[in-house]
Amino acid sequence: MKTMDLELLKALLSIYSPSGNEMRVAGLIKEQIEDYVDEIHIDPLGNLIARKKGNGKRIMLAGHMDQIGLMVTFIDDKGFLRFTNVGGISPAITLSQRVIFENGTIGVIGSEKLDSIKDLSLDKLFIDIGASNKAEAEELVTIGDVCVYHSEPLIDDKKVVSQGLDDRIGCYIMIEALKNMGSSNNDLYFVFTSQEEVGVRGAKTSAYAVDPDYGIALDVTATGDTPKAKPMAVSLGAGPAVKIRDNSMLSHPKIKTHMIEQAKKNNIPYQLEVLEFGGTDSGAIHLTKAGVPSGVLSIPTRYLHSNCEMVFLSDIENSIKLLVKLVENEIE
Ligand code: CO
Ligand code: ZN
Repeated sequence: MKTMDLELLKALLSIYSPSGNEMRVAGLIKEQIEDYVDEIHIDPLGNLIARKKGNGKRIMLAGHMDQIGLMVTFIDDKGFLRFTNVGGISPAITLSQRVIFENGTIGVIGSEKLDSIKDLSLDKLFIDIGASNKAEAEELVTIGDVCVYHSEPLIDDKKVVSQGLDDRIGCYIMIEALKNMGSSNNDLYFVFTSQEEVGVRGAKTSAYAVDPDYGIALDVTATGDTPKAKPMAVSLGAGPAVKIRDNSMLSHPKIKTHMIEQAKKNNIPYQLEVLEFGGTDSGAIHLTKAGVPSGVLSIPTRYLHSNCEMVFLSDIENSIKLLVKLVENEIE
């Protein structure tokens, strides 16, 4: 494998892409991959669907382009903005963060006076864009506008820290696998999905259209390797995780076996993931039409759904290596 294109990863992480507004990321990904695929189009729900033709089984890969965000519900007389969540937004994680809107307006999250930190909830928080009154705020934002966490992605020689690693990292791994893979008999669909964070909506319609024989999602998963974390046998740096279950699906034995066998055969470290919450695009894919045997290649990630999600470079590299082998070889 040639070395990873970390500038591309940084570019992917820097793009504004809340659920339902994935056009910019889709544009960048399309540019990156169109020379490597036979067909490519964007469907009515905003999924980017790229096909690398083969005579064998149809395999759908899915990585979601969208990220969680905050949607403006109300602007008060002093110019402060109230908001609701787009996807899984935690009040504790959101307090004091910077946020950015599509037009580049930057704000910070403030809180009402609380008697106890236990009273912290999203409706006690507000976005402060530095406006002096309602009219000034309305020049910059409108009801229904969505902002996302804002910070400069950090990449050093060991780790990546950024908002939006969920799931731009899955998209990145798919792009790199496509660029690095050899020939394959499989009929491959690389699907970059929309609206995962609000209920795997893009995966639902794209899986219906693709009608795959097998499905594999690429998405982040939690770890159990931080102080007093909920016990979980997934750590950063121990390789890609083969999902066994989450709340949206039980991985199909065929896919699980394919992933484990290819990891072993190619000396790629891997770990087994039992996630007691959450779900991925595979939750939708495996229930398509008469059912689709599906699994998930998970990327171990700390501090999910925050402004400082953390992934190790070694896990990214090994995930790319494993995905290349998964798509080059037939599922038996
Ligand atoms: Co997520
Ligand atoms: Zn995700």
